[in-house]
Amino acid sequence: MAAARTPADLAALVDRRVAGLPLEQVLGWAEFCGLRVVVEPGVFVPRHRTEFLVRQAVALARPGAAVVDLCCGSGAVGLAVAVALGRATLHAVDVDPAAVRCARRNLDAVGGEVHEGDLDDPLPAGLRGRVDVLVANAPYVPTDAVGLLPPRRACTKPGWRWTAARTGWTSSAGWRRPRRGGWPPAARC
Ligand SMILES: C[S@@+](CC[C@H](N)C(=O)[O-])C[C@H]1O[C@@H](n2cnc3c(N)ncnc32)[C@H](O)[C@@H]1O
Repeated sequence: MAAARTPADLAALVDRRVAGLPLEQVLGWAEFCGLRVVVEPGVFVPRHRTEFLVRQAVALARPGAAVVDLCCGSGAVGLAVAVALGRATLHAVDVDPAAVRCARRNLDAVGGEVHEGDLDDPLPAGLRGRVDVLVANAPYVPTDAVGLLPPRRACTKPGWRWTAARTGWTSSAGWRRPRRGGWPPAARC
């Protein structure tokens, strides 16, 4: 109710929700780790269960740590880690231009840099061997199972099929697409 300035606004918001759009997409933001995270159209809505990942990362890191958030979506995970640490060098990556734009809006406040591209490919070379914590909530629904999602989930991200196809995530066993150089160098450090 508070998000609507006029009754017409409210009616439009309700219509979008009734049509199956997730509440966070209707409002344009999601609550994650106590933070308000901007969620633009087509960008994955951060889930509360992913807060577990944030807690694990924060427990392993120290203030000033170099943190990488791969498959960052809105940037929620990296943002929450950086805020909890108080001080961090944060780099986030997503292959989807809409996610990259959205993550830039969220990570600007903590000085995070957002890169567009495949996994660790676009990370600055200078980061090699200097990453303290790498977090990734990567795609986890196999491409051929996307059609089985309820519309509420499937329409969360209009470009999702494209992204899943690009990722080659065809099995819950892992990424099938061969990587040129093996696992991300950051993951090996
Ligand atoms: C399940 S969502 C998670 C988003 C975010 N980490 C979160 O928890 O809110 C997965 C994200 O991975 C991105 N993605 C898919 N394939 C990718 C790839 N090859 N390289 C980088 N990002 C990718 C998608 O665009 C999507 O934003």
